[in-house]
Formats: sequence, C-alpha cells, structure tokens
Amino acid sequence: MSNNLLKGKKGIIFGALDNKSIAWKIAARAHEEGAVFTLSNTPIALRFGEIHQLASTCNAEVIPADATSIKDLEHVFTQSMEVLGGKIDFVLHSIGMSLNVRKQKVYDDIDYDYFHKTIDISALSFHKMLQVAKKMDAINEWGSVLALSYIAAQRTLVGYNDMADAKALLESIARSFGYIYGREKHVRINTISQSPTRTTAGSGIKGIDGLLDFTERMSPLGNATADECADFSIVLFSDLSRKVTMQNIYHDGGFSSMAMSLKAMTQYNKCLEDDEDRANA
Ligand SMILES: NC(=O)c1ccc[n+]([C@@H]2O[C@H](COP(=O)([O-])OP(=O)(O)OC[C@H]3O[C@@H](n4cnc5c(N)ncnc54)[C@H](O)[C@@H]3O)[C@@H](O)[C@H]2O)c1
Repeated sequence: MSNNLLKGKKGIIFGALDNKSIAWKIAARAHEEGAVFTLSNTPIALRFGEIHQLASTCNAEVIPADATSIKDLEHVFTQSMEVLGGKIDFVLHSIGMSLNVRKQKVYDDIDYDYFHKTIDISALSFHKMLQVAKKMDAINEWGSVLALSYIAAQRTLVGYNDMADAKALLESIARSFGYIYGREKHVRINTISQSPTRTTAGSGIKGIDGLLDFTERMSPLGNATADECADFSIVLFSDLSRKVTMQNIYHDGGFSSMAMSLKAMTQYNKCLEDDEDRANA
C-alpha cells in the first residue's frame, strides 16, 4: 500500500544484489512510495546479481561503483544528479563484506589484509560516501542518509568476526558525520540495527539457522524481516522523521533489550532434560 511518503524525492540505493537483499526490498518500497532513484553496486555484482531486473521494475538507472573508491563515488553522485534532475534527498548504504568470514578465519587468527578490506568496504565506504556528497553539496537540506548495522556492534555474537568491529565503526561514523552534516546542512544520518536476515551476506554468518531461531525465540515480536526493514527505512527517508539523526535504531522485534525469554528458557530446559535422559540411558 502506498502513502506517497517519498513523492518527489530523489535517492541513491547502494547494495541491491538479488531479490533477497535488504536494499532490494527498500528499493521496491521506495518506488511504491513515489521516489525516483539510481541503483549502484560493484561491477562484479552487476554481472552476477539480478540488479537489472530490479532496475527495470523501478525504472532506475544502474551505476557501477566500488564503494571504497572515491572516484567511483564521485561518479555515482554526479551521474545520479544528472539522471534524476537535481540534488539527492536520500541515500542507502547497504554494503557489507568480510573475507575473514568468507574464508572461515577465526577472530583470534585473523588475516590483517582481509581485516583492512572488511573495514574499508563495510564502514569506511560510508564515510567516503558522506565526504564525497558533502564536498559536492549533492544532498538537499533535510536529506536522509541511512546505513544498515547489526547488534554485534554492541554485543558479542559467535562467528560475526571482524564484521562486529566494522559495524561499531559504521555506527560511530553516523554520529560523528551526523553532527557536522546536520549542523551545516541539516542532513540526517542514521543506522538501522536489523535482525539477522536470510540474504547472501546474512548466509555467510556462521550458524545462521541457529541464530535466526535463537533471536526469534528471544524477541517478543519475533525477528524483523527484510520487508519490515524496508517499511521502517521509508519512514527514516521521509519527512515524518525530520528531527531524527545520529541514531542507531534497533529494528529487531525487541531482541536488543532482552536477556532471557520464556520461549528461550523453555527450549533451554528441554535441552537440559534431554541431556539428562541421555546420561541416564
Ligand atoms: N542479513 C543480515 O542478517 C543483516 C543483519 C543486519 C545488518 N545487515 C547489513 O545489511 C546490509 C546489506 O546486506 P544484505 O544482508 O542485504 O546482503 P547482500 O549480500 O544482499 O548485500 C550486501 C551488498 O554489499 C555489496 N558490496 C560488497 N562489496 C562492495 C563494494 N566494495 N562496493 C559496493 N558494494 C559492495 C554486495 O555486492 C551486496 O550487494 C549489510 O551492511 C549487512 O551487514 C544484514
């Protein structure tokens, strides 16, 4: 259902790979809400992903870019303003990748070249995006910039590896840059801390099935889906959230405030009983 919440707004959406991507769902909802936007991803993602399918349904131009390259980012902003006919109102950073996770390196035996890449791709790219946009004065007053984060920035979760450090930096950049960009141009910068979600990046997390089940049992409202994340992102891009900036907002069904739930305790007790039965058999 559309409420035209983004009617007349121009955006750039980074990170839609396939129809499971959170950025894909956000792009589809933004289109439904009346926005016009460009889509960007790496040349390799454009070749192997399905972004052109999304582009045709949303009537959006696709601009290849490695988000760690200043030159590529300058091109994305220049080209987007040309195609969309003016300055940008919203930007989505939905980008994350860790070679340490992919290559199953463990946190206490990490590869430092990979670690640099994790930080560059998953966090510094957000700073680069903001710095390029500000220098080019590419974002309209009261524009909204959003990045996607995860609770591993605050709490330790098995297997999330160096992505936890990247997310902590990502959230910090939202605050530090949010102050400057807000003070000077009234541009808003926030992160959404999303529930674990079954996507290409999400499936890289060790033990994703168990994690999804655990967070589902722990959250009073259950896990937040990618579609629900898209709904919430639309609110943050819209004028309904004009005074929200420099925040990391949990979109996780309440998981971040829980320590133990009835459902998780029931499951835990059941496992203990099973163990006891096995020991006594
Ligand atoms: N899936 C989850 O469980 C979950 C939970 C919380 C937050 N997030 C975050 O959501 C965001 C989107 O991930 P997703 O789950 O939709 O997975 P996804 O794999 O669909 O998206 C990740 C995207 O990052 C892009 N990317 C990687 N390197 C890049 C680079 N150098 N330049 C530009 N783009 C690059 C990929 O091509 C891909 O499109 C990520 O920041 C992720 O950490 C995901």
